[in-house]
Amino acid sequence: MSQMVENEGTRRDFLYYATAGTGAVAVGAAVWPLVNQMNPSADVKALSSIRVDISDIEPGTQLTVKWLGKPVFIRRRTEEEIIQARAVELSELADPVGRNNNSPGLDASDANRSMDESGEWLVMMGVCTHLGCVPLGDGAGDFHGWFCPCHGSHYDTCGRIRKGPAPTNLPIPLAEFADANTIKLG
Ligand code: FES
Repeated sequence: MSQMVENEGTRRDFLYYATAGTGAVAVGAAVWPLVNQMNPSADVKALSSIRVDISDIEPGTQLTVKWLGKPVFIRRRTEEEIIQARAVELSELADPVGRNNNSPGLDASDANRSMDESGEWLVMMGVCTHLGCVPLGDGAGDFHGWFCPCHGSHYDTCGRIRKGPAPTNLPIPLAEFADANTIKLG
């Protein structure tokens, strides 16, 4: 199933897969309507848990899935991205809180935000914590992670806010490996 959303462009990081492998829609609208975040429709609520096939995600690429009416970024990071993220001291961070719903209360070190020990997999809500735009990925911004063009928020390769008006790191939803090729959200 796929859903058409206002189309203003064809950036690869705005490809949405409603469920893995069943269809994709190019979406260019940078602003994710706030109403979607506040009032998910009944059919969206019914999909409170989804499974995503990650077997086709190459290192250095990202899959964006729609979950509970919002985009979720699933990124398979390169070694370089992991090294960059792990080299950052907590004292350098604007928001030192992990924002990881799988381990609440921990700090924002890379190990506390990535899915696996190696740090290869990073799963985050793709919604800027400033006013809700969808940040651009694929190494965008001054910190080579994600960049929100709406008002200039720069996130690093761990999705932590490093510069700009966004107040907090991109939050990490409930997520786990269902098996080696599948991530379950929710
Ligand atoms: S919504 Fe992202 S910087 Fe304002």
